[in-house]
Amino acid sequence: MTSKIVHIKTFGCQMNKLDSALVTASLEKAGFRLTDTVKEADAVLINTCSVREHAEQRVLSHLGHLKHIKKQKPNVVVAVIGCMAQRLGPELLDDNTVDIVCGPAQIPQIPQIVTSALNEKHKLLSIKDSIRQKPDDQENLALDEFESTFDRAEQNLPGQAFVRVMRGCDSFCAYCVVPYVRGPEVSRPPAAIIDQVKRLADEGVKQVTLLGQAVNKYKYAAGQKSSCLADLLYLASEVDGIDWIKFVTNYPSEQFYDEILKAMADLPKVCPYLHIPAQSGSDKILRAMNRHYTAAQYLEMLDKARSIVPGIALSGDFIVGYPGETEEDFHVTVDLVKKARYKNAFIFKYSPRPGTKADKNLTDTVPHQIKRKRNTELLAVQEKISAELAQTFLGQTVKVLVEGLSKKPHLNSAEGRDNPQLVGRTATDWIVVFNGPPSLAGRFVNAKITKTAPLTLFADPAP
Ligand code: SAH
Ligand code: SF4
Ligand code: F3S
Repeated sequence: MTSKIVHIKTFGCQMNKLDSALVTASLEKAGFRLTDTVKEADAVLINTCSVREHAEQRVLSHLGHLKHIKKQKPNVVVAVIGCMAQRLGPELLDDNTVDIVCGPAQIPQIPQIVTSALNEKHKLLSIKDSIRQKPDDQENLALDEFESTFDRAEQNLPGQAFVRVMRGCDSFCAYCVVPYVRGPEVSRPPAAIIDQVKRLADEGVKQVTLLGQAVNKYKYAAGQKSSCLADLLYLASEVDGIDWIKFVTNYPSEQFYDEILKAMADLPKVCPYLHIPAQSGSDKILRAMNRHYTAAQYLEMLDKARSIVPGIALSGDFIVGYPGETEEDFHVTVDLVKKARYKNAFIFKYSPRPGTKADKNLTDTVPHQIKRKRNTELLAVQEKISAELAQTFLGQTVKVLVEGLSKKPHLNSAEGRDNPQLVGRTATDWIVVFNGPPSLAGRFVNAKITKTAPLTLFADPAP
């Protein structure tokens, strides 16, 4: 039998990208062949995100596109997987275009589900009925084994890999859908994580990024012994071949915070970079968001990070236009951004998510134009800070892990095919672009910064 061809498109965060990579490897193992061309595929998988309405709309418009393809090729199997699959379940199957709906906890079954849909032409639904129920040992084992078996170097980022250290989330920020689509927080056993890191290092991986929705809350207890993220950082640092270790995302909490910062300061392999979203600078809004800190406590945490890890780069996320956010609330957020001096910050307009506390209990009061105005204003404040911080790099030589060809043609000052513009990142997560041979992808190089933009450092290769 000739092998079936599958196409996979991914929306959403790093968790989803990792899930897609695992699913891809498992499908390949089962004999499927991957394609970048939708029209060539026998099965099309869409890995979806529910975090904002816009993310879901993009998926729906992609499904519209697939409807046309299916008219010409009625036998093509369409699978919606990931967070939106878990959120909407059977509702998605009502769409004639959709054959399979499979939630994030069911991904180990995908090769078998897709094969069965291709052979038997019937619809299939595989999601968790009660998503907040603690997974049993069997489910955890299945996911762990899937993770350990199919994790490999990131195909688009040579020399790098992402390793999940925990699944789910128990933080219940009032606006957020993640706990309802990814289920309860479960930390994976340290031995499984470190074995995986070792295997990846043997395959040539140089940088691992440990993933969790609130990765600093990682906690694994077995018998008398309990491990936190700092313990994982010490263990991962001992793995030969791994040069850089990063971890995302951090919830601003004092729990394990000192230990993590100390590990970062002690361990040369642990990159001095912390993504630590504040979401708002207003205590009233933080309370309404069910975030358990005040703006003052948050800024103290940033001060502590800077004193324990000199040179640390910080980044954040913000939501503007949260229900009840006044001009005054917004202004204190602007103040916080000015004080925090992030390397960069992601700014989102509040989007009510069905099923969340914010959607049930609060009215989306801030008009869209005001959300947009605040978004633009906050971005401008951050951009100025990013530009100032970038300028401090001028003339410095930095170590960069090269990702590959730069994808921004407008920045491209390529000098022919042998010396195109490449992009990479520093240990502090700054983006660096410079001209060099594509064979440098996945390697460390030194680069001397010659020019800067708010989010990008331009460089010349240096000895
Ligand atoms: N666990 C991570 C990532 C959560 S999703 C964290 O806590 O940081 C990434 C970002 O999306 C969040 O930090 C938040 O800023 C934003 N976000 C989440 N839900 C949102 C919503 N309903 N509307 C707008 N932005 C949202
Ligand atoms: Fe969502 Fe909060 Fe969990 Fe992040 S920590 S995933 S924002 S509930
Ligand atoms: Fe990630 Fe979106 Fe799901 S942000 S966890 S893919 S809802």
